[in-house]
Amino acid sequence: MKVTNPTIIAFALAVLASAQFDQQSAPFHLVLFSDDDHINGTTLTACHSGAAISSLCLSSGGSPSSPDPLAPSIFRFNTSTQTQPASPESTPGLLTNEIPTAPGNLPIPTVLDFYQDPTVDYALPLFYPGEIGRTIAVTESNFFNVQGYVDYSVNPPKSGEWKSYNRWYACTTYYQGYQYLNVVFKLGAGKPQEPGCTSVEVKRVFI
Ligand SMILES: *[C@@H]1O[C@H](CO)[C@@H](O)[C@H](O)[C@H]1NC(C)=O
Ligand SMILES: *[C@@H]1O[C@H](CO)[C@@H](O)[C@H](O)[C@H]1NC(C)=O
Repeated sequence: MKVTNPTIIAFALAVLASAQFDQQSAPFHLVLFSDDDHINGTTLTACHSGAAISSLCLSSGGSPSSPDPLAPSIFRFNTSTQTQPASPESTPGLLTNEIPTAPGNLPIPTVLDFYQDPTVDYALPLFYPGEIGRTIAVTESNFFNVQGYVDYSVNPPKSGEWKSYNRWYACTTYYQGYQYLNVVFKLGAGKPQEPGCTSVEVKRVFI
């Protein structure tokens, strides 16, 4: 869909903000693709980062808070039946994960949001309890991206066309004392300032 009319965009954004993402996908694992042999094929795990908060860490371990390999987590993607603005080949929705609890208790549903520390140039994806999250999108070939309709590479910024941004990196992050090798989303073009981050693509692989 190519949206050019600002009124249509404003309407589309209002729809997106109020969308009910109640169509739950089948369960899947998240798998990274990268030019780096050590990272290519690595799965992701929801890693404990606070009370009912988890990050998207690499299951391979090797970081201060997760030295040992971990089992891959199960994720689902909630989409909407309403028409959603997005680039033609992507479907927007919310990424979810359930935190297991003690036997006999219900798991805690959590949803992905982006945590931002203004002193670093990437957002840290974190799962929080509840239903409010950061809308991301998935392509027909099952790769996740973030959608935007403003081109900030020109002055003045030009709005009108939805585009997909694949600015995922694997970086060792620091959040509330937890240090994991996590998937992050770079804010703006270019590589993260932190040394040693690796460009990755994030794919869902149905179980
Ligand atoms: C995802 O969809 C399921 C099934 O409709 C629903 O129970 C759950 O609350 C939804 N989660 C979010 C974050 O919208
Ligand atoms: C990464 O893994 C995929 C799937 O196993 C493979 O097709 C691809 O060639 C690998 N990429 C690199 C750069 O090794």
